[in-house]
Amino acid sequence: MLYINQLADVVGKEVTLKGWVYNIRSSKKLLFVLLRDGTGLCQSIISQEDVSEELWEQASGLQQECAVEITGIVNADERSVGGHELHVTGLKVISVTENYPITPKEHGIEFLMEHRHLWLRSRKQWAAMRVRNTIIYSIHRFFQEKGFIQMDAPVFTGNAAEGTTNLFETDYFDRKAYLTQSGQLYGEAMAMAHGKIYTFGPTFRAEKSKTRRHLTEFWMIEPEMAFYDLAMNMDLAEEMIRHIITDVLEQNKPELEILERDIERLEKVKAPFPRISYTEAVERLASEDMQKKLDAMMQERHDEKVLLQKEKEELDSEFGQAKKGRKFQIDRRRGQINARMEQIDEDLRNIPVWKKSAQEKKWGDDFGGSDETLLTMEEETPVMVYGYPAEIKAFYMKRDPENDKVALGVDMLAPEGYGEIIGGGQREEDLDTLMQRLKEHDLPEEPFRWYLDLRRYGSVPHSGFGLGLERTVAWICGLKHVRETIPFPRMMGRIYP
Ligand code: 4AD
Ligand code: MG
Repeated sequence: MLYINQLADVVGKEVTLKGWVYNIRSSKKLLFVLLRDGTGLCQSIISQEDVSEELWEQASGLQQECAVEITGIVNADERSVGGHELHVTGLKVISVTENYPITPKEHGIEFLMEHRHLWLRSRKQWAAMRVRNTIIYSIHRFFQEKGFIQMDAPVFTGNAAEGTTNLFETDYFDRKAYLTQSGQLYGEAMAMAHGKIYTFGPTFRAEKSKTRRHLTEFWMIEPEMAFYDLAMNMDLAEEMIRHIITDVLEQNKPELEILERDIERLEKVKAPFPRISYTEAVERLASEDMQKKLDAMMQERHDEKVLLQKEKEELDSEFGQAKKGRKFQIDRRRGQINARMEQIDEDLRNIPVWKKSAQEKKWGDDFGGSDETLLTMEEETPVMVYGYPAEIKAFYMKRDPENDKVALGVDMLAPEGYGEIIGGGQREEDLDTLMQRLKEHDLPEEPFRWYLDLRRYGSVPHSGFGLGLERTVAWICGLKHVRETIPFPRMMGRIYP
């Protein structure tokens, strides 16, 4: 089998490709079939003069998503999608498709989500999954090359790991069991056996929030390391993210272009990531300076909107007399303007709310999505915020020996409004303290007996973190919503397809 992404090796030769019709258009005695085969797209040109009447007729009847086998001579052509064209000499229809539901026209998000099983074939969705694949492979390579052992945590668990409010409960042979919220606690047991491990698996949260950052089923990568403190943990998280970005930039430039991602923004993620304490973060949010910055931002958005409106009016008045090619350009630009205007309107609604929330921020409050956006607003790289109030963090977090109110936890916040992609920290290793914490958090001791054993037998300082795969893919691809970062998203109110 030869694939479209191998065409560079066979220029000038006659080859056969198998795939699906992505798009078809005709111009007098020519048919242009854009073929997709999973590895890319290739323009196939059928000229009525060069092929049999039968082939011409068959080709003329092709529709979007017909499965075909196409034979032709490979031409290198820079202007063509993917850099090659096929001059068709033979065609075999493998299966006929009529009225494929997803057409090149715009569809609403609800419609697309209902057709996710087909939507996956569309170009942007295809590109996002390629980037996701690179990220997954990159993570495995990163940890494997550092001597980490990949181990799997169970999905059915008898206890909560991350609070009891968003647990999925299941009936486990007449007993209660929960779908795992995090593999961490099991990861700690594994780290005591192997030193450095990572888990890579699905995790579940009954999130009732319908935000662009929340799924009910998502994939988490959770390294756990014996003898690591918080600072070493942060070093590792930073190195891992840089490793991922480097791999994506090396392997997925074409996909990032399809996604219209601003690649320069990703290239800047090389610099060291700022690390600020939670206390500093609160001060920043509540500062006069933040209020001023938000006022300035509001003004900038207003000004931008005025300019865009003007440009749009000019394009509208030009459209009537424009030639076909120019019309296409105008349409494209109008699409971009509309998308940007939507974003601006959203910002204009949001900024006053953010401003108020920032101004009222006090020590002890948790951060919401908007606070995370504000904290990274002027940064080109992610930011790590450490030392959260112990009150708002999980029972297993170790406290700062210098201040008992502070937990040695860290969150990594991605820039461009993508928010928290990593949560982690140093774990409490003292048995009595941990038992005390379970009580404070109103958690029963019985299901944690095994976990407490880890503090009874050879307890050592240790740390780890969890990276949310979908939020990472969303950020790197520049996708607004996590629903497009996983093949079949699970969210509140969606379990089909
Ligand atoms: O911050 P979280 O809750 O941390 C833990 O679960 C720790 N036990 C991890 C550890 O230390 N081993 O979740 C970790 C990450 C978040 O930063 C976020 O990226 C992602 O998991 N995440 C979600 N992603 C999508 N949808 C949700 N509902 C998510 N909840 C968390
Ligand atoms: Mg978190």
